[in-house]
Formats: sequence, C-alpha cells, structure tokens
Amino acid sequence: MVKQTLNIGLIGHKFMGKAHSNALKNLNMFFEPGAMVNMKTICGVEDDIAEAAARYGWKSYETDWHKVVEDPEIDIIDICTPGLSHCEIALAAAKAGKHIICEKPLSMTAAEAGSMYASAVEQGIRHMVNFCYRRVPAVALAKEIISSSRLGEIYHFHAIYQQDWVDESTPYVWRFDKKIAGAGAISDKGSHVIDLARYLVGELKEVVGMTDIFLAEHQDPVSGDMKPVTTDDAAMFLARFENGATGNFETSRISTGYKNALRFAVTGSKGSLRFNLERLNELEVYFADEDKTTQGFRTVLVTDAQHPYVNHWWPQGHIIGWEHLFVHQYYEFVRAIVENKAVQPDFYDGLINMQIIEAIERSARERCWVTL
Ligand SMILES: NC(=O)c1ccc[n+]([C@@H]2O[C@H](COP(=O)([O-])OP(=O)(O)OC[C@H]3O[C@@H](n4cnc5c(N)ncnc54)[C@H](O)[C@@H]3O)[C@@H](O)[C@H]2O)c1
Repeated sequence: MVKQTLNIGLIGHKFMGKAHSNALKNLNMFFEPGAMVNMKTICGVEDDIAEAAARYGWKSYETDWHKVVEDPEIDIIDICTPGLSHCEIALAAAKAGKHIICEKPLSMTAAEAGSMYASAVEQGIRHMVNFCYRRVPAVALAKEIISSSRLGEIYHFHAIYQQDWVDESTPYVWRFDKKIAGAGAISDKGSHVIDLARYLVGELKEVVGMTDIFLAEHQDPVSGDMKPVTTDDAAMFLARFENGATGNFETSRISTGYKNALRFAVTGSKGSLRFNLERLNELEVYFADEDKTTQGFRTVLVTDAQHPYVNHWWPQGHIIGWEHLFVHQYYEFVRAIVENKAVQPDFYDGLINMQIIEAIERSARERCWVTL
C-alpha cells in the first residue's frame, strides 16, 4: 500500500552514485516498501554531472551538496562521496532532519562515526550504512541458517576479499590518499568482511593484524608526477569473537586475477556453509546429521520464492546480480522510514566497524593484540 512519496537527494554521481540511482529506478517496480521514491536531485563535482543526471533519470542536479541538504522538499540524503566528506554531509543532513543512507566505510575515523551516530539518534532520523553484502539472498539465507542453530556452535569464520585493480601502471586515484579515503584495503574491503563477521557470527572481542603498502607510488594522470601511496594495499588479521569463535581475514587490492572475490566460510559444530560473491546466487552447505553415505557439501541455488528477497524478482532459477543488492538495501531503508522502525546496518554498526578498523591499524603499528 503506497502511503507517500519520499524525495531523494544523492551526493556523488560516479560508481556508487550510479549503482544507487539504478536501485532507486527499480525499487518501486519490484518492491512495495510503502512509499514511492522520487529521484529529485543528484550532486557531483565533475563536469559531466548534468549529463549523468539526465541519463540516470534525476529531475535536477547540483554541484554544491549544501544546496541539496538544505532543500526542504528532500526527505532522504544518500551519501556516495569519498570518505572525507561523509561526516560533514551527514551531520548537516541530520541537523536538517533528513533520513540518511551513507556509503561504507561510514567515516574517516571512529570519532567521526561516533558523532554521526550521536547526531542521528538526537535528531530521531533513520540512518543506514551501505554494507550491501548483507542483502545478497544467499548471505541472508546463511544468516537464517546460523540463527536457527542448524550449524550448532560456531567455531570459525574465515573471509577473504580480493580485488586486482591496482598494479604498477594504475594511475593515482583518491583511494591511495589517507586524507581522502581514511585507509586502503582494510577500510575499502575490510569494512565489508568485518560487517559480515558481526552480522553472521557476532561481536568481535580482540584483533591482531598487519597492513602493507606494496606499491609505494602511482603516477598522477594530470601532472604526470609520481605521488606517494598512504593507504594499505593489503591487510590481514585474526580475531576472537565474544562467543568464543575465531576469525581469520584477508583483504587486498593487488591480488592478480581476483576481480571482486569476496568469499567466506562459517564452520560450526553441526555444519558449515560457504559463499563466493562471484557465484552470488549460490550457497554451499554441509550438515553433519545427514546420511553419511551421501554426505558432503552441496550447492543450494538461492532463487526460490521462499529465499530472502527473491519472490520480488523472477521465477525460480532466474538468477539476479550484484546491482540487486542495492535495491534490497533501499527496500529495507524505505520500509524503516515508512514504518518508523530501526534498521540495520545503521550508524551504530558503522561506528563499531570503524572501531575495529582502527584497532587493526593500531595492532599493525604496535605489533600486538588489541582488545575492543
Ligand atoms: N558498497 C560498496 O560495495 C561500495 C563500492 C564502491 C565504493 N563504495 C564507497 O562509496 C563511496 C564513493 O565511492 P565511489 O567508488 O562511488 O567513488 P567515485 O570516485 O566513483 O565517485 C565519487 C563521487 O563523489 C563526488 N564528490 C566528491 N567530493 C564531492 C563533494 N565535496 N561534493 C559533492 N560531490 C562530491 C564526485 O563528484 C563523484 O561523483 C566511498 O565511500 C566508497 O568507499 C562502496
């Protein structure tokens, strides 16, 4: 039942700006979150913003985010800029009473994340951080299986997130600059696997880690000068969870051949499961109580109507893709606004995530375990 229209203002029009625009275009076609979304204004600082606004289907565009946040007709601010500006935009948006969905990692520091969370709570707005991998149907199914105790006591969580977009010839981009990105692989990819660990297994208790820069400089595409890299190319860490489970994690942007390879495995006393983003419609499961003669890992095609989110899309076996996660995330967010209820992952999850990232960085610096 459609009750209202929510006007959206989206800051940032490149990679994530496009993914979120695509989600907004599809939301009301496939889902009924209780409100229509209106793509009112998109904002970006590059010259192609007008053309992008028209192509993505936005009613208007701006080059100054303050104007979007100050627009009294806008209900939701969607932050898709590099980490440097997340906090400033979010604080202004919360003060203006807007609901906020913000890209990950939530902020540059845990202190910033703390102020964003406090401000969102104080203003009584709905807030979400876009840890979109919670919204893969197979991952949501994994959560259901773990919550039903079918895996028994959880012993181990193992996650690897590898990409290979960085080599010696890669031009300098903002992700190499700690002052704009906050951190490298540990925040770009690590924030996702940390969120999945908390979502699937529970809170982390202590961590020990290492971070490395393998390629010390890249060429500025404009000036031609070599510029130093100040964010990590790779980070590895171990964790102990509050429930006693152990975790091991690896993240890297220089893993040759691994395009967007996010894989995790959960091992419990009664079964195990494993997931690979490059085959995102599938979940591998193993249950210890099954008939020994035919026992083994089996692959569940997570495309049946009873699987999370799937009944909104196509008939069984008609697979979905990466872009659908953003639709699911917006569905949960808009529903939370309409029904005036909390939604996760929220700024609290973003705050804890940042505290864990900082603890891993500190552990790497001081070469010790850090208690959270
Ligand atoms: N959820 C995911 O899977 C995922 C994937 C990629 C990136 N991200 C996150 O999304 C965010 C953006 O990353 P991206 O890859 O889209 O970056 P991008 O470089 O592709 O786009 C950045 C956008 O921000 C805009 N921008 C920058 N500064 C601005 C300012 N002061 N005012 C207005 N607009 C400004 C630029 O015009 C551009 O449109 C980052 O926080 C990143 O970590 C999330």
